[in-house]
Amino acid sequence: MNNPTNIVAEAMKAREFAQAPYSKFKVGAALLTDAGAVVHGANVESASYGLSCCAERVAIFKALTSGHFSFNKLAIASEGGASPCGACRQIIAEYAAKAELILVDINRPESPSHTNIQTLLPNSFTGKNLPSN
Ligand code: THU
Repeated sequence: MNNPTNIVAEAMKAREFAQAPYSKFKVGAALLTDAGAVVHGANVESASYGLSCCAERVAIFKALTSGHFSFNKLAIASEGGASPCGACRQIIAEYAAKAELILVDINRPESPSHTNIQTLLPNSFTGKNLPSN
């Protein structure tokens, strides 16, 4: 049998490519697609701080624009096992709603916490009430 993908290890690997010279807070994300592919992301910061992008959104945007649309797991690795910010929760709710979310403290990777977007962002805005033309 094939080895199952270690998505926690993939998120830790992804974190190594974080570009976080301002906050020094490196975050890695790894998406496991339903087809078994892994897509990595890491946070990228700008000297114009507001332009920075979180690891989760980098991973999801990379995946979508590479033709991956359905996701089984999203692991997020950081010092302390940070939970996704509000902006990332919205994107996860729209594009990776059924993914298991795995929050990884890089100092305790053997005991990640597991959650889902329905818990983190209940009653999310879906766009279904937007006007159609
Ligand atoms: N950050 C992420 O990449 N993901 C999170 O879940 C929380 C925050 C990034 C944004 C910024 O580059 C740095 O961490 C500090 O906020």
